Amino acid sequence: MRCMILRLQIPVGFLWLVAATTSPARGVETVWDGVYTAAQAARGESVYSAECSRCHKDDLSGYRNALIGERFMDSWREDRLESFFSLVKRTMPRNAPASLSDGDYLDVVAYVLQANAFPPGMKELTSDALGDIKVEGKQGPQAVPNYALVEVVGCLVQGAGGEWFLSDATEPVRTRDPGDSAGTDMSAIGRKTAGSHRFRLLDADVVRPGPKGSPLPQGQRVEAKGFLMRKPGDDSINLTSLRSSGSACVR
Ligand code: HEC
Repeated sequence: MRCMILRLQIPVGFLWLVAATTSPARGVETVWDGVYTAAQAARGESVYSAECSRCHKDDLSGYRNALIGERFMDSWREDRLESFFSLVKRTMPRNAPASLSDGDYLDVVAYVLQANAFPPGMKELTSDALGDIKVEGKQGPQAVPNYALVEVVGCLVQGAGGEWFLSDATEPVRTRDPGDSAGTDMSAIGRKTAGSHRFRLLDADVVRPGPKGSPLPQGQRVEAKGFLMRKPGDDSINLTSLRSSGSACVR
């Protein structure tokens, strides 16, 4: 229901733009679009009771609500459901990571979605679908929360006081990989449309590309990853990775 209302409010021109710019093959859904079935969540509840509840509690409130409510949403919103699934599969149950079948992990994810009041639908959640499902709050897409690990592309510049900044930076996008992303096409980063954000970079001298002591690629388009902290008048990123595209910034 909610999503029909949203769609009706979006101007037709915007829909055309979205259709023209997103990848044509598969559509992106959100967790509000009925991405699991009630039967699947019921199976997931049995898996949860057998494999998770003794640590996470019957009402999912264990470890300061890691699996439910605001804490769950702050950890996972503005990301794809794939990230949540992979983390659960890779690290849980804590005493026996990756010990369940993919089907069981999918069912548990369905159960966690149901417990967080996302509606069931007509089709079961599958591994193939995970990458195309966005986790979003009731309000729809929002800015990534503070302390989240993000990736941003922008122009590396040095301020008068010697501090490093990313100017003309893109909107921060959530990532789960703090390191240099293997296989990224760095020339594509050089071509990315400039944004309007500006971030102060913490630890640029430590998390530098190239050997220690070499000059930072000032005036070049770079990909920065790190922990986001936005305060009024001071948006910063505590860097975990900094890589240059090799191309100069164009203004
Ligand atoms: C033996 C105890 C134990 C079992 C069993 C267990 N967990 Fe956990 N889980 C933990 C601990 C400890 C943490 C870490 C809590 C923290 O860091 O705040 C955790 C954290 C998590 C997180 C949050 C991770 C993050 O970084 O946000 C998720 C999601 C999770 N568990 C899911 C599950 C699921 C699903 C199952 C069942 C398949 C499960 N766990 C079974 C102990 C357990």
